[in-house]
Order: sequence, then structure tokens, then C-alpha cells
Amino acid sequence: MKKSSAVPSSKASSTPAPRVAIAIMAAGKGTRLKSQLPKVLHEVGGKPLLAHVIAAATRVVPPADVFAIIGHEADRVRAALANTGVNFVLQSEQRGTGHALMVAQSALSAYDHVIVLSGDAPQINPQTIAQLLNFHLDQKAAMTLLSADLDHPTGYGRVIRKNPRSSEVQAIVEEKSSSPAQKKIREVNAGFYVFDVPQLFAHIKKLSTANPHAEYYLTDMASLLRQARQRVVVWKTQNSAEVLGANTRVELSFIDYQMRMRKCHELMTEGVTIFYPASCVIDNDVEIAPDTVLEPFVQILGRSRIGAGCRIRSYSVIRDSEVADGVLLRPGCILEGARVERNAILGPYSHLRPGSDIGEGAHVGNFVETKKIKLGKGSKANHLTYLGDAEIGAGVNIGAGTITCNYDGVHKHTTVIEDEVFIGSDSTLVAPVRVGKRAYVAAASCITDDVPEDALAIGRSRQITKEGWAREKRTASSPRRHGGTEKANPQKQI
Ligand code: UD1
Ligand code: CA
Repeated sequence: MKKSSAVPSSKASSTPAPRVAIAIMAAGKGTRLKSQLPKVLHEVGGKPLLAHVIAAATRVVPPADVFAIIGHEADRVRAALANTGVNFVLQSEQRGTGHALMVAQSALSAYDHVIVLSGDAPQINPQTIAQLLNFHLDQKAAMTLLSADLDHPTGYGRVIRKNPRSSEVQAIVEEKSSSPAQKKIREVNAGFYVFDVPQLFAHIKKLSTANPHAEYYLTDMASLLRQARQRVVVWKTQNSAEVLGANTRVELSFIDYQMRMRKCHELMTEGVTIFYPASCVIDNDVEIAPDTVLEPFVQILGRSRIGAGCRIRSYSVIRDSEVADGVLLRPGCILEGARVERNAILGPYSHLRPGSDIGEGAHVGNFVETKKIKLGKGSKANHLTYLGDAEIGAGVNIGAGTITCNYDGVHKHTTVIEDEVFIGSDSTLVAPVRVGKRAYVAAASCITDDVPEDALAIGRSRQITKEGWAREKRTASSPRRHGGTEKANPQKQI
């Protein structure tokens, strides 16, 4: 579906298109999760429940027409989702789903229809929302609800139709108030509705709290509107996964699993090989190009983009990073906010922190940590190295155990290593410092001054060799001289 508004425009040009808002009920605490974190901020598929619902809503109407009703830990919820551009309505006391809509009355009174979504049901499709709205408008209903048949309907409100073939609804009965016969009904209320706004607010004041939770149930609007001789209809989705709500940790993990499996299936359909998909964790917004292979136990998170023909070996974790075509990540690499250019080879156990930019065909090996660096084309840092705040040119060789000393305790400084430089093993480069083109740094040097092009810098004390020293030491400490015996004290021989 296009990003633009999916609200149907009026066929007859004389009648203006209906004004449609979306209200998302997201104020509840989520008692059943037993958590400090508000329910709608719990994550599935790598982002908060409410972020999924807002993403679907804003593909149906513009963000300016979306109203998230928040309450429990409202500031935290607002801060987490402020970048979505939707409006927030405060329900400071949470007295039920009906009460959530009462609180939103003034925000919604400028609209003809309101689509109501549940902030804890993240798999809802924009297409389904648009179809529900179209059905509602076609049926000229006061209330239209979305339903689905569930094999395990326990916990959901049940839809009581006027008769089995009719789309007209008599009532919605909550699980706790339902009779044994009603409990057998598999058609559940999804918690998604469309209301005619004037009808909703003409009758919402009649809701009561005479129920087991002592709350205002929005579901009671079905029977209230029926009694007022208004039309209440139901539209059933065949995709029952869409309606699943995350009320408990078990439901959260089930929805997360479903989303991730769906993501893996989408990627495999698009040409990505995933061995043992159930072991891989791939967030919803990740993009991976064809012919890339993911081995078991790989995590690709956030807004990561992986090119074509890559191989991501087991136990690699990639977050918010860009990996170009043909890259090999050996096992156990960790990338965060990094960029890796074509045909580079990383790992095993490379750690790329934010701002790392690894050039085309470059190699970064075991136990190498990088942060805010540019490593040029074909350069190599293969073993046990820390490179932070550095600009490293092309064709550079960084020896094992090299360290850029980038921090003086207060400020960070930059190390510049120009093209084709050779840094000997176990060198420390105390920034700010520059090593000119093709220069060599001798092994174990501590480089504090700039090194000119083509120079050799040696920054260590000269080796002293004492001929025969070891032999003399052995003789001096031999057991015979001290009167001991081999048996009595073998340690002394060392
Ligand atoms: C609700 C429906 C039930 C339906 C199910 C589908 C009611 C009374 N019951 O039950 O028929 O089958 O959803 O998932 O509506 N919320 C507020 N303010 C409040 C209370 C809740 O904003 O005062 C929000 C919650 O944060 C949540 C949503 O409304 O996102 C639904 O509330 P929840 O308590 O989860 O309702 P269910 O028991 O799941
Ligand atoms: Ca729920």
C-alpha cells in the first residue's frame, strides 16, 4: 500500500470525503505482564507494540489524524514514540476501553468516523484497517467491529451475531461475563472498531461499570447502539494472527516468534538463504539482498541493511549497520552503527562500534575493536587491535596488538595513517599523530610524534644482549653449589 492516505474519496464530487481519525488505545498498565515497563513499550519484532500499530495506522490516515490514548507512564510512552508525528491524548486514570474513548471525545469531535485500534495488537495490517473502514461506510453502520475465528478464544470477547448468516451484531460478551454456551463461540472481538463519531458520543455516556472489572467496556457499545436502533455490524478477517493481543509474556513471545518467522519467510522468498531460521533473530525493518547466506544463530537488528552475496556466519550480531555486497562475516562478529564496504572480510570475533567504516576488500580479524574509524580499501588489521578515532588509508597493514591511544582522559584525538603504511606489531600510536604515506613503524614502538612519508620510525629502547648470561645464572643456582639434591628440592633447578 502507498504511504498516502487510504481513506476512500467520495464518488460523487458534491459530497465531501468523510473525515476519518484513528484512535489507538494504549493507556493500560498491562498488569498481566508484571513489568515496570508500560505494556505498549514491550517489544516484538524489535520494536514496541505501539510502534507497530502506529506504523499501520499512519499508512491509512496521515499522522495528524492519529490519536494515541496514553496514560500509564504516559511521559515514557510519549518520549519513545514522539518521532512518529502522531497526537497523544492523556487518559490519566485508566477506567476501561470505553473510558479511553470518553477521554478522547474533544480530540475526535471534528471527525465523521473514528477507527479504534488496540495498542497491544501489533500484527494488524493497513489493508485490513482500510477494508474494515470501507465495509463500515458501505454498511452505513454506527459501529463496525473486526472479528476472527480463533482455535483458542479464551480471554477474548465473543461476538454474538443476530443470526449466524447475518453480519449484524447483537452484542459482544467479555470472557468473564460469558455463559458456558457463549464460551464455545470461536469468533472473537479483535479489539478494532470503526464508529460513526456522532453516534459514538451520543451514546457513550450510557456505558456502566457494572461488570467483573468495574470498568467502562467499549465492547458494551455494541448492545447500547443496538438498543438505540443503530446498525452494528461485524467484518471477519481470515488472517487470525492479525488480531492476537499481547497481554502476557507468553503471548508476547508467541507474537514475536510469528513475526520473525514471517520475516524469515519473506526474506527466503526474496532469495536469502537462512539455515535454521528458528534460531535467527531478524527485526522487521531489516533489509537483506538476494544470495546472502545466514548461518544459524545470527541476529540482524534495527535498521540494518545487508547487500547481496554476503555470508553471515553463526553468532554474529548486527545492529543498525550497513553491509555491502560480497562481505564475509566470520563467526561471532558484533557490528553496531557500522558500515562495511564490498568484499570486506571480518572476524572471527571482530567488534565494530558506531562510526566504523570498513573499506572495500579490507580485512578486520580476531579480537579487533574499532570505533569511529575509516579503514581504507584493502587495508588489514587482522589481530588483537584497538582502532578508535582514526583515518586509515588504503593498502595499510596494521600489525597484531596495535593500539591507537585516542583518549587523554578529557578529549578524544585522531590518528591519521596514510596509504600503504606498515605498522609493526604491538605499536601504540598516541593521538593526535600522523604517519605519512608508505612509512614504517617498527614493532613495539610508542609513536608520539608525526612520522613523515617513506620514513621508518622506531620508538622503543634499543635491545641489550648479554652473551652467556643464562648459562651463568644456571651455574650460579645449581643444586651442587647450594649443597642440595635434585630429589630434595627440584624447584631450585629452574
Ligand atoms: C479487549 C476487549 C475484548 C477483545 C480484546 C482483543 C474490552 C472490554 N475488551 O480485551 O473484547 O477481545 O481486547 O484484544 O475492550 N486501554 C486503555 N485504557 C484503559 C484500558 C485499556 O487505553 O482504561 C488499552 C490497553 O492499553 C490496551 C487496549 O486498551 O492496549 C485493550 O485493553 P486490554 O485491557 O488489553 O483489553 P483486553 O482484556 O485484551
Ligand atoms: Ca489486550
